[in-house]
Amino acid sequence: MERIYVFDTTLRDGEQTPGVSLNIKEKVAIARQLDKLGVDCIEAGFPIASIGDFEAVKAVAEVVQNAEVAGFGRSNLPDIDRAWEAIKNAKKPRIHTFIATSDIHMKYKLKMEPEAVIEAAVKAVAHAKQYTPNVEFSAEDAFRSDPEFLSKVFEAVIRAGATTVNIPDTVGYATPWEFGQFIKKIKENTSNIDQARISVHCHNDLGLAVANSLAAIENGATQVECTINGLGERAGNASMEELVMALYTRRDHYQYDTNIVKEEIYRSSSLISRLTGIVIQPNKAIVGKNAFAHESGIHQDGMLKNRETYEIMNPEMIGVPLNTIVMGKHSGRNGFKSKLHSLGYDIEGDHLNELFIRFKDLCDKKREITDEDLIALVDEEMLKEDETYTFKYLHVSSGTNISATATVGLKLDNELIEKAEPGKGPIEAIYKAINSLVDGEFTLEDYKINSITSGKDAQGEVITKVRYKDRLFIGKGLSVDIIEASARSYIDGINKAINYEKKYS
Ligand code: KIV
Ligand code: ZN
Repeated sequence: MERIYVFDTTLRDGEQTPGVSLNIKEKVAIARQLDKLGVDCIEAGFPIASIGDFEAVKAVAEVVQNAEVAGFGRSNLPDIDRAWEAIKNAKKPRIHTFIATSDIHMKYKLKMEPEAVIEAAVKAVAHAKQYTPNVEFSAEDAFRSDPEFLSKVFEAVIRAGATTVNIPDTVGYATPWEFGQFIKKIKENTSNIDQARISVHCHNDLGLAVANSLAAIENGATQVECTINGLGERAGNASMEELVMALYTRRDHYQYDTNIVKEEIYRSSSLISRLTGIVIQPNKAIVGKNAFAHESGIHQDGMLKNRETYEIMNPEMIGVPLNTIVMGKHSGRNGFKSKLHSLGYDIEGDHLNELFIRFKDLCDKKREITDEDLIALVDEEMLKEDETYTFKYLHVSSGTNISATATVGLKLDNELIEKAEPGKGPIEAIYKAINSLVDGEFTLEDYKINSITSGKDAQGEVITKVRYKDRLFIGKGLSVDIIEASARSYIDGINKAINYEKKYS
């Protein structure tokens, strides 16, 4: 079977999802997981966009072991220099440069004549080529471009050294048949196309990104650009898990393979959902909570008789944890360590000690500890930020006919600080108390709560979006007590904002 290259842009286009903002530690954790997942290329970010983006791309480039790492930049020399500076330490670097080629973009956005666009593209590719042989060129808004002009652009950039030419449906306008025909036409009319890989990058404005990418594959594309959970600008990009599982499940039809380790799909999806704060809709294909749930009696009966009556894939294939009880209060440190190892975490030293204490603490509050509980605990511990303010305790009183009051205790520079505030409900009271303890103007922009597992004693995970000046910071808090998780989450967001401020201003 021919192999399709999976180009993951979760950390670049995916980070353009409204309301998503990831710090360096989180981007590195995602990149490591994507590397484990077996993607061929990780687009790590847009280095010239800010110092934070540059540092994140650099950090990702330095940890990724197997995948290529791409740095993104417009078709101008400073963008390309900055992209190279960020990715030059990667084992397999790739420069990805782009310029728009549709009439509407050239005329109104770029205010450039078509010939000037070709010149800029060629100059950018040739410049990138001095740094690395691995250069990708994207024609932004390609699908709405004149196909003859597009072939002319591609011929020129391939002559200048582009090894991948990418055909984005930037605004998600294509339909599958049309997009397939478009790819075929470009392939037929670009004289030197055999010297480059054809890539596609589909947006999901009409819900067709995956279908369009599959149609492109059937017509000659051998690289697909996609994101985990379909994150991305506006309605997002083609969802990687859907593309990969469509190619796999219908391999009888497509006859294409990928390098993706399918058992890592669920883990990747959950990690990215948790870190971005974008909750996955329950009926989302492949990774939604209901993707493998059978509700109707007729379906359940069929499943009991033969799973294949209603199941074209099974949850084990994508690594959904079985949610069996894995550990309890009698588990020892070694058993705990080897359980973590079996879940893919090799943790030693202080982190292991700290986690074991938190695990024992959880055992006192929750009878049954599952894989998902452990994964949530480890992810939280491993991604913990430096804490200016540390949560210590809280007391809350609230009820139906009384207004709430909360007392919150935090540690600041080894000193305990405490404050009580009233509120319309317990969360408002806690957040008011925290606001009056911390230095600076922080506001809550969004609040979400998830339960990690089912059951009354499940751990609750609270995800908050905290605004500080003109930026949003995503806070996370985990506890069997959702009021405590709410306080921890808000304080986490505040600590992230303080760390960012210390570093970049
Ligand atoms: O949607 C798009 O066109 C992109 C680039 C690849 C330019 O994100
Ligand atoms: Zn895009």
